[in-house]
Amino acid sequence: MTTTGDLEVSSYLQAASQAEGAATELADGERPVGEGMVVIDFGSQYTHLIARRVRELHVYSEIVPATAAWDQVSHLDPKGVILSGGPASVYDAGAPRVPDWVFEKRLPVLGICYGMQALVHQLGGKVVAGAKREYGHSLLHQNNMEADLFCGMPPSFQVWMSHGDRVEALPPGFSSLAFTDNSPIAAMGNGQNIVGLQFHPEVNHTPLGKTILQNFLFQTCRCQGTWTPRNFVAESVARIREQVGDGQVICALSGGVDSSVTAVLLHRAIGEQLTCIFVNNGLMRLEEPERVQATFRRHLGLKLQFVDATDRFLACLKGVIDPEVKRKAVGQEFIRVFEEAASQLGRTDFLAQGTLYPDVIESQTPENRTSARIKTHHNVGGLPEHMKLKLVEPLRYLFKDEVRNVGLELGLPHEMVVRQPFPGPGLAIRVIGEVTKDRLDTLRACDWIVIDEIKKANLYEDLWQSFAVLTDSRTVGVMGDYRTYGYVCAVRAVTSEDAMTADWVRLPYDVLGRISNRIVNEVPNVNRVVYDITSKPPGTIEWE
Ligand code: XMP
Repeated sequence: MTTTGDLEVSSYLQAASQAEGAATELADGERPVGEGMVVIDFGSQYTHLIARRVRELHVYSEIVPATAAWDQVSHLDPKGVILSGGPASVYDAGAPRVPDWVFEKRLPVLGICYGMQALVHQLGGKVVAGAKREYGHSLLHQNNMEADLFCGMPPSFQVWMSHGDRVEALPPGFSSLAFTDNSPIAAMGNGQNIVGLQFHPEVNHTPLGKTILQNFLFQTCRCQGTWTPRNFVAESVARIREQVGDGQVICALSGGVDSSVTAVLLHRAIGEQLTCIFVNNGLMRLEEPERVQATFRRHLGLKLQFVDATDRFLACLKGVIDPEVKRKAVGQEFIRVFEEAASQLGRTDFLAQGTLYPDVIESQTPENRTSARIKTHHNVGGLPEHMKLKLVEPLRYLFKDEVRNVGLELGLPHEMVVRQPFPGPGLAIRVIGEVTKDRLDTLRACDWIVIDEIKKANLYEDLWQSFAVLTDSRTVGVMGDYRTYGYVCAVRAVTSEDAMTADWVRLPYDVLGRISNRIVNEVPNVNRVVYDITSKPPGTIEWE
């Protein structure tokens, strides 16, 4: 299970409480609903995108496996079903199938790529292996201008294709709606409520894809578009009150977007029954602990217990160089400190945390459970048996951008909501080599300059992350008439959708120049600045 970044502290607790089997999760029926769109996952790398695009159009959507029974989706009150693409061929042994309930319930269906082929195969048409794989941009031509799915769209437009098999014969009752040079049947419909697309409307490479999804949602499925941050907040407040009753809730607040939104949402629902614990591990950025306190205690009026455990964390990092050992040391110490702080509060019943939907989805797919561990994010120790806390996870079905919108709706300050992710082990994994107070201070000074210049250049919100790394290399330099022998600071800036992949950013030379100049002039012991031009993969975003 990975995290998209900033959930830091409570992610430790999540892993911990799951490891101990101490937690119970929200019941399935407690997720946000109203009108729902079911996205059936046939294994496409774009399935998450389908769900996101649908939600961007204000319709709540959830991804379920192809094996999901009606009972597992009925609480969503589905208004339609979208079948994702996938790597299989319909003729493969064990190829995923459209569940029978989709047809039995007579729900509107949109099949995408493999999803369309599965429809064709199951409804009596014919799919064949294409002579050549069609991959990349194609120009799609509508057969006539009458399909609801293409309502308001030009006769021809760009689409993104990625398929091997293709539809050769349509099932009875269906007609072709569009074609490309390579696919005589690139879109199909039965004139009622089942449609299929050979291309991918969910990706940005299909520039008008969102209009197609919009047509499906609002014309075919007759959705209303009730999924808004305001409705989410109202529903969540009611749900949290019901779940928590008169119980006491603790929340590990890190100041990152996810834990902040979780805390404020809970505070709106249960007020004084919530106590937030903020642990200063000494591994945060300049002024960070002070700002978090000021925002949450003074401005937002939350009950906040501040624990300064800087010395404890530094002690357990003493002499540690290995990145994995650092991560585990920080994680385990965090749990000890948190548990001690919580035990002083008297009775606690629930642990609130900001688990997000990508974490939920990832933890459900078997491939992700068995994939190689690159870095330890969550699996650090366990909560002591006696804590036995139940979980409150109000963001469990939200994507990151939705969390940000909910934060704004709740009145969180803009700077808080747009914050870039920051890892749980903090600056410990950006100080290469041994972590000491002095080296942390040096890094904090460099990092402050990087962020300051990025913000002044108006780039902060466009970047997934931007930060400094203090390397353990020393190089010779010259300042005035003197020789210097100082550390190398590396600057990193990346863009990313979800932290699974990332691109290094082509920062303007003058921004890089200012960062470099200021660091070597303002930060003692650093005499050289380099820029990291590695994408992920093959690099990772953090250096350790
Ligand atoms: P990597 O370095 O694996 O980072 O490419 C991917 C994203 O995750 C963040 N990160 C963490 N977040 N706990 C967290 O909550 C961690 O232990 C952790 N390690 C890395 C990283 O900043 C990036 O956004």
